[in-house]
Amino acid sequence: MAEKAKEQIINAHKAIGVIDSGVGGLTVVKEISNLLPRESIIYFGDTARMPYGPRSYEEVRHFAFQMIDFLQHQEIKMIVVACNSATAAGLQHYQEACRQPVLGVIEPGVRAALKSSKTGRIGVIGTVGTINSSEYEKKLKENNGNLFLASKACPLFVLLVENNLVNTPEAKKVAMEYLDPLVRQDIDSLILGCTHYPLMKELIQDVVGPSVTLIDSAKEIAAEVAATLEDDNMNNPLESETPRYRFFVSGSPASFEEVGSKLLGREIKAYQVILS
Ligand code: DGL
Repeated sequence: MAEKAKEQIINAHKAIGVIDSGVGGLTVVKEISNLLPRESIIYFGDTARMPYGPRSYEEVRHFAFQMIDFLQHQEIKMIVVACNSATAAGLQHYQEACRQPVLGVIEPGVRAALKSSKTGRIGVIGTVGTINSSEYEKKLKENNGNLFLASKACPLFVLLVENNLVNTPEAKKVAMEYLDPLVRQDIDSLILGCTHYPLMKELIQDVVGPSVTLIDSAKEIAAEVAATLEDDNMNNPLESETPRYRFFVSGSPASFEEVGSKLLGREIKAYQVILS
């Protein structure tokens, strides 16, 4: 059997590892499973220690490495860092340390924003950690030094999603306070630089108005996963195979299962793994 075919058969059975600080990374799982229905996924959500947004980069990197370590003991062929804060804290560190390809969520979001923006005026919203790292800005400017960028940390958005308060008048008020200053700067595209924000897309779109295109990095990273599997000859060619989805969390499986089942549109079971 040719080497390439042998390698593909071995990799076909391996899963895509996905890590996030909590449940938000399931937005990425959803997009990957829509695009790549034959691929198995192993997810780790560090629910006991989220939010990562206000933590130091060193601490977030340490936590991310603990999840990566766990995944390395499973059969995985790729690692997706679905968390913007963990990507901002050290994607390159993870890439240098891992034998599998490691993808982060920032570059796919940047590429989509560059494609979307007609005026070159782009907004980015994310956690305090992501915005303070300036990773989105750096990557956007690397591509085009003439872009106008407006960024804003929106820490309360994560709490609104986690506490199921997105459809309340208070949420709208908070969203207007965060987003009005960006809209006033005439942006035409807004990067949702946090796993939780796609879950409040409708509210954000309502506040920024129809002239601003929202960039959802979950869709973009799924496309990058597909392209990388194809390029590296790691995609699952077995049509007959039913993919396996396994979910691990550091906190309570019950609340993760509840939110996750709603988000993915089917019952999921999660297992607790204590990270310390
Ligand atoms: N997953 C995080 C991110 O995308 C959001 C929640 C947190 O602060 O941990 O930045």
